[in-house]
Amino acid sequence: MINLEYPEGATPIDPDEASELLLTHITTREELDRWEQDNIIEALAWIEKTKPKDILNEAFIRKLHTQMFGNVWKWAGKFRQSDKNIGGRWWQIPTDLKDLCDDAKQWVDSRNEPSDEIAVRFHHRLVLIHPFPNGNGRLARLMADLLLENILDHPRFTWGSANLSSPSDTRQRYIAALRAADGNNYQPLLEFARS
Ligand SMILES: Nc1ncnc2c1ncn2[C@@H]1O[C@H](COP(=O)(O)OP(=O)(O)OP(=O)(O)O)[C@@H](O)[C@H]1O
Ligand SMILES: [Mg+2]
Repeated sequence: MINLEYPEGATPIDPDEASELLLTHITTREELDRWEQDNIIEALAWIEKTKPKDILNEAFIRKLHTQMFGNVWKWAGKFRQSDKNIGGRWWQIPTDLKDLCDDAKQWVDSRNEPSDEIAVRFHHRLVLIHPFPNGNGRLARLMADLLLENILDHPRFTWGSANLSSPSDTRQRYIAALRAADGNNYQPLLEFARS
């Protein structure tokens, strides 16, 4: 059984979820991070090849999560079935996601707000819904980048220019910026995403 330590703001994996690891030889956090990272590199290649534009819907979000984590986790692409310390009730995920996607389409069509503002709001709400047992931060950062590049025709974010998955000052800044956004102040997240 794998025993994991978590950086600040990470969602712990339930024991029943940990038992659904496909790669049973993984025993440490570092190994898991590496396997997940390799899987995500494959997902990025898939995005380069397919250049998806129809991304603001449940089917695409699940497909992207499968592409990012399907080599490592059995539950890749499947919504969580338990509540976490972040996120609403698990059974509301499909409706919450649909509302978010509908709102985002409207933000895109009306163009009342700058592209960065749209992408940051989308990122924060997606990660708050927390659709999956794990990988929500990475999925929601990539979704915001796809929204910018493939729909808003705008450069992707730099996200603090560091690996956000391990503990660091940059991660602390990211989590602090998300907490400010929880309180409806998006300025720190807007600045962080372009730093
Ligand atoms: N207070 C908060 N408000 C909104 N989102 C938060 C908050 N705290 C943490 N998060 C988000 O939850 C994510 C952790 O969820 P999860 O473990 O499912 O994603 P992850 O991709 O494995 O995360 P990461 O790679 O960042 O460790 C963080 O990356 C961050 O995006
Ligand atoms: Mg995590």
